[in-house]
Amino acid sequence: MRASQVPNACSLLSLAMLFLPVTGTSKQNIPRLKLSYKDLQLSNSCIPFLGSTEGLDFRTLLLDEERGRLLVGAKDHIFLLNLVDLNKNVKKIYWPAAKEKLELCKLAGKDAHTECANFIRVLQPYNRTHVYVCGTGAFHPLCGYIELGTHKEETMFRLDTQNLESGRLKCPFDPQQPFASVMADEYLYAGTASDFLGKDTALTRSLGPSHDHHYIRTDISEHYWLTGKIPNIYSFFFFFFLIFF
Ligand SMILES: *[C@@H]1O[C@H](CO)[C@@H](O)[C@H](O)[C@H]1NC(C)=O
Repeated sequence: MRASQVPNACSLLSLAMLFLPVTGTSKQNIPRLKLSYKDLQLSNSCIPFLGSTEGLDFRTLLLDEERGRLLVGAKDHIFLLNLVDLNKNVKKIYWPAAKEKLELCKLAGKDAHTECANFIRVLQPYNRTHVYVCGTGAFHPLCGYIELGTHKEETMFRLDTQNLESGRLKCPFDPQQPFASVMADEYLYAGTASDFLGKDTALTRSLGPSHDHHYIRTDISEHYWLTGKIPNIYSFFFFFFLIFF
């Protein structure tokens, strides 16, 4: 979704709702119902998100119903929106790719605007106070934690820049690449390309409780371990199949 096609969060939300349930049931990915931006405006049932002239190119949504908030992952930015009024007290985190990674990305022949930036592809609830976030980082994926505070606290919205970690096997290198992730029991499950060229793809499991922090991934053409007993993997498969098949 490019900025020009998605002028605001209202149409973005509608698109997400229309497309997500449909991708699993139709091989051609044809939506059952399609509403244009104009249709949405005329319906009088949406509030345009006017708060952003930068950081468009929305890619990821995380709904926090309990606290009435929506997190939106975009290009170089993560927004925190209030569901009652999307334009009230908009908070944002600016998280661009490192300068040297931008230069390397351009040297590798990638497009400076559509590829060499930090496109946020993962926003997953980690625990009561933190959300896990990953971005493509100009073909050098990085992940970290956003602190949101507890329910009662004044809304906090801060990226812990001291504890960033590699996003390889958790997040694609290429912002255009198909990708899926889900968080369950503090484990992050992802279906992603594992290298710069996007030739090798894998299902991976990472993060997890602090005593069990290591990666596992599928070998090339080895699927058997996936049928083992892994809590909540089924929801991940469901999601994965929705996206890829
Ligand atoms: C949530 O995870 C973060 C990052 O590991 C940690 O600093 C924080 O203490 C955790 N919060 C709770 C409530 O466990």
